[in-house]
Amino acid sequence: MSTSLSSFIATRCTTDDRHPVAFYQLIHSIAQTCRAIAAAVDRSALAGTTGSAGVANVQGEEQKKLDIVTNTLMLEGTANNDVLAAVASEEMARISRTGQARKAGQYLLLFDPLDGSSNVDVNAPVGTIFSILRCADSTYPVSESDFLQPGTAQVCAGYAIYGAATMLVLTLGDGVDGFTLDRDSGEFVLTHPRMTIPASTREFAINTANTRFWEAPVNRYIDECLAGANGPRKQDFNMRWVAAMVADVHRILLRGGVFLYPQDTREASRFGKLRLLYEANPMSFLVEQAGGMSSTGHERVMDIQPHALHQRIAVMLGSRDEVERLTAYHQQAAQPVPDLVNALRHLWTEY
Ligand code: F6P
Ligand code: MN
Repeated sequence: MSTSLSSFIATRCTTDDRHPVAFYQLIHSIAQTCRAIAAAVDRSALAGTTGSAGVANVQGEEQKKLDIVTNTLMLEGTANNDVLAAVASEEMARISRTGQARKAGQYLLLFDPLDGSSNVDVNAPVGTIFSILRCADSTYPVSESDFLQPGTAQVCAGYAIYGAATMLVLTLGDGVDGFTLDRDSGEFVLTHPRMTIPASTREFAINTANTRFWEAPVNRYIDECLAGANGPRKQDFNMRWVAAMVADVHRILLRGGVFLYPQDTREASRFGKLRLLYEANPMSFLVEQAGGMSSTGHERVMDIQPHALHQRIAVMLGSRDEVERLTAYHQQAAQPVPDLVNALRHLWTEY
């Protein structure tokens, strides 16, 4: 017999006393909203909601009409939850308080309502990413600083992917489960229980148009992949880039691989393109829960103490062996070359 998301959540609710019932209702509301977003994406060409809205979001990026539509759907779909104190979104400069009475033990929701939204115009996959944090017992009202928690503090993370099928992939901190939307019944059905990422892979995902801006360890890693069987890796690699993080991470959860959006020397102060709190952290939580790894190259993404709501970060995530190799290359690049150090020491003692 198949398991629906509703019964999966109901079982968790009765067996897990870490969270109140309303927390599970919140996950249910997010799933319902993702179903509504799937329908909005599906109908976008018919409804005239493809293309640009003619405005920019807080990061100066062009907002698509559907970015705004889906942001509203997420806000409305989660507004009436008893334990949700406030929400933050890629599409909103500031946090939005839900108006619910502030009590201890409440939650904060962060989301990217339509990840990879440019893909909508070409009928390619897009997604919704979300992350749930506990709201610390600080003074009322909730403020932006309440959201600045490291990824390790997440209690739930997930995404919906709107592709050939709509799927919802979820972690509550004890593994990753994938549900497929049955369009006939309207239910999400557990089709991918306990998803795990193979430790080794021959597939990488990176926007190679940025090659000339990468730092040395990333160039070294990709050069070695491209050298294939003739190079130091002694095997051929394959490359995939959907240009929607949700879709690239989904592929990695299903068959392994590594996804990189490294720091870019064009804008060194930006530390990457992806947003820490509602893109990198939830995806890192899912990837780690599926047995993979997620790093900036220098440190574990989920250990980073955020300093701003829309902070960006470098991300390298996926199959464990590859992310370990990438972090080793970064460590080696950060160390002085031993021969050079010895030569300098020699010179110093001679004079
Ligand atoms: O949200 C940012 C994002 O759209 C990701 O979903 C995606 O991985 C990346 O940007 C695509 O970047 P680029 O435009 O460099 O291909
Ligand atoms: Mn995004």
